[in-house]
Amino acid sequence: MGQQQIFLPVCESTNSEAQQLLNKNEATEGCTIVTAKQTRGRGQRGNSWEAEPGKNITLSVILSPSFLPVRYQFHLNMAVSLGVLDLLHEQGLKQAQVKWPNDLYFEDKKLGGILIENTINSYSLQHSIVGIGLNVNQLVFKNNTATSLALALGHNLDVDVLIKRLLELLEKRYLELRSGKVAKLKYEYLQVLFRYQEQHFFMVDGHKVQGQILGVAEDGRLALEINKGLRYFSFKEIAYII
Ligand code: BTN
Repeated sequence: MGQQQIFLPVCESTNSEAQQLLNKNEATEGCTIVTAKQTRGRGQRGNSWEAEPGKNITLSVILSPSFLPVRYQFHLNMAVSLGVLDLLHEQGLKQAQVKWPNDLYFEDKKLGGILIENTINSYSLQHSIVGIGLNVNQLVFKNNTATSLALALGHNLDVDVLIKRLLELLEKRYLELRSGKVAKLKYEYLQVLFRYQEQHFFMVDGHKVQGQILGVAEDGRLALEINKGLRYFSFKEIAYII
């Protein structure tokens, strides 16, 4: 990954830039778009993604996971989350976790997020744009639910060096996925899953419910035990209450 790397000092969104390259047939698998500043960075649930220019990791990788059936697209989320966590763990944040489906958390604060946008070709994925935003050297945030590597570790890091390593680690996880090591990925994903097997509060249909995460289904839905019953929730149906 990253053999074809495009650096844009400013852009609206690296995911959108990646989509434009795909539309023009100008991207090969692994092509990575990196920027110092996004003017319309996008997050999940239609949120925007804001990051102080030049201080953080903001990139998108183009993949062609045609081996992955659409119903298993969540497996890519697991592989990517683990790749980013490998980097965080390697940098010394041993307690970094993934908040389902793929937010990066450290000590109850968000370190980064992943936005994967897929194009589908009948039963399998054709292209995936894997957008990653990781707070590296930013020290001030609008809300106190966010943090950065520098805040957590107490020192600044070299963003370019981190990006190079991140792409290596992502590739390693992607190759595991491609070679069918799904059980291993799932096992490791659960090991680092935020609030796994803990009682916690969630919002479901506008109501606050208490439940315990028991796992994640093959299709990516979150398995929650609520009042001794097992229920499965898609991303749109449930939100954590932090
Ligand atoms: C989230 O936590 O909601 C996901 C955030 C994803 C942000 C990254 S930054 C690079 C890429 N380009 C975007 O517009 N979004 C993703």
